Amino acid sequence: MTGRTTLTIVLAAGEGTRMRSSLPKVLHPVAGQSLLAHVLAAAPKGDGAALAVVVGPDHQAVADEARLARPEAGIHVQAERLGTAHAVMAARAALAQGCDDLLIAFGDTPLISAATFARLRAPLAAGAGLAVLGFRAADPTGYGRLVMDGDRLTAIREQADASAAERAITLCNAGVMAFDGRIALQVLERIGNANSKGEYYLTDAVGIVRALGHDVVVVETDEDEVRGINTKAQLAQAEQVMQARLRQAALDAGVTLIAPDTVFLSADTTFGRDVVVEPNVVFGAGVSVGDGAVIHAFSYLEKAAIGARALVGPFARLRPGTSLGEGAKVGNFVETKAATIEAGAKVNHLTYIGDTHVGAGANIGAGTITCNYDGFDKYKTIIGKGAFVGSNSSLVAPVRIGDGAYIGSGSVITSDVADDALAIGRGRQTAREGWARHFREAKAAAKALRK
Ligand code: UD1
Ligand code: MG
Repeated sequence: MTGRTTLTIVLAAGEGTRMRSSLPKVLHPVAGQSLLAHVLAAAPKGDGAALAVVVGPDHQAVADEARLARPEAGIHVQAERLGTAHAVMAARAALAQGCDDLLIAFGDTPLISAATFARLRAPLAAGAGLAVLGFRAADPTGYGRLVMDGDRLTAIREQADASAAERAITLCNAGVMAFDGRIALQVLERIGNANSKGEYYLTDAVGIVRALGHDVVVVETDEDEVRGINTKAQLAQAEQVMQARLRQAALDAGVTLIAPDTVFLSADTTFGRDVVVEPNVVFGAGVSVGDGAVIHAFSYLEKAAIGARALVGPFARLRPGTSLGEGAKVGNFVETKAATIEAGAKVNHLTYIGDTHVGAGANIGAGTITCNYDGFDKYKTIIGKGAFVGSNSSLVAPVRIGDGAYIGSGSVITSDVADDALAIGRGRQTAREGWARHFREAKAAAKALRK
């Protein structure tokens, strides 16, 4: 980007006790992705960009998530939680490699953008020793206050150490900082723990960089971008901000959202051109929607690929591993899982299609169920192209329905059906002429006698 090398250190060793959850704080999801994954996605990438993540002891799951999001990330363990500067030093090995710019970010601020990281680095290229990301807090309680002398930052005062006058300052430290990489290590090494909490505060870097004769500047951003998540209420707030962003991005990209506020998106949802999404649709992680597809109201989709001009719902549930071909239809009260439904195939009503391949142009009648599970294992159903499955049939897997085959309604199909064959697996219908009339007459006569 600027031709400068950068090391980003993401601090994720928080305990997150105020979440009241057994899940580590940074693994909580916002828009279908962990807090940590959001931060890692925004961190600089590409040539000359290195990444280090600091995790707490016994936080293998956090390390795994970091590697999933950014396989090249180095993982460093902070054995004891002694403050933000101490946490940065846990990645000393990465720091020792040297870099032009050192970025520090927190794993619990998921709304930060790549553009803001770039904006924060810019003053370094112009010669500053340290750039601090600041924001105007609606309620500054708990944040470090930015103490300014004109437009120069003189200190960051933590809530616990601030005077009454300093507490009145609303310009706050977002926690994200960018250091000139050539001085970063010597600055960090000088940070002590002489404060009310006995912690190594990263914020003390301000005074040290200034004492070394370098400029310290503040780059401002919007509060919504730097909300730190410590509680479930803050998590919900972040979700709201993220959803608003994702909806706006979808609208900007040309998606028709009839009632945007009722549609829930994931950070990785992708849309083609001329897609229509009706009200009250939920997109879990991993959904792509092709050109001209329509997602009707009250549908729920996860890890699903929707082909061009496919129609989904209303009231459809597409579970992980669903793939709909061009113009395929999945209608109301249909559940699919690990199902490939090829072009033009229709599954219109009240059906479960699991572990199944449905060939192009096949028609699956109302109430069809693939019986894919015996309580221990899952089995596959293959339905050939152009096949017609009559309503209310049970397809007991493993089973294969041939191309162009017909299944009589109400069948229980337990054996493979050849191409172009008709299979019927149900009791044969019998009829008794006049039976109903005789029955009614006999009953009525018996009732009359009892009176
Ligand atoms: C910090 C800042 C404060 C700023 C606020 C913004 C310091 C001293 N204070 O305060 O100025 O306004 O963030 O949200 O930097 N962490 C570790 N190991 C540690 C301590 C922290 O990894 O030993 C990580 C946490 O997981 C978290 C981040 O560092 O992601 C910030 O720690 P936290 O305790 O939340 O700091 P704040 O008190 O919020
Ligand atoms: Mg915090």
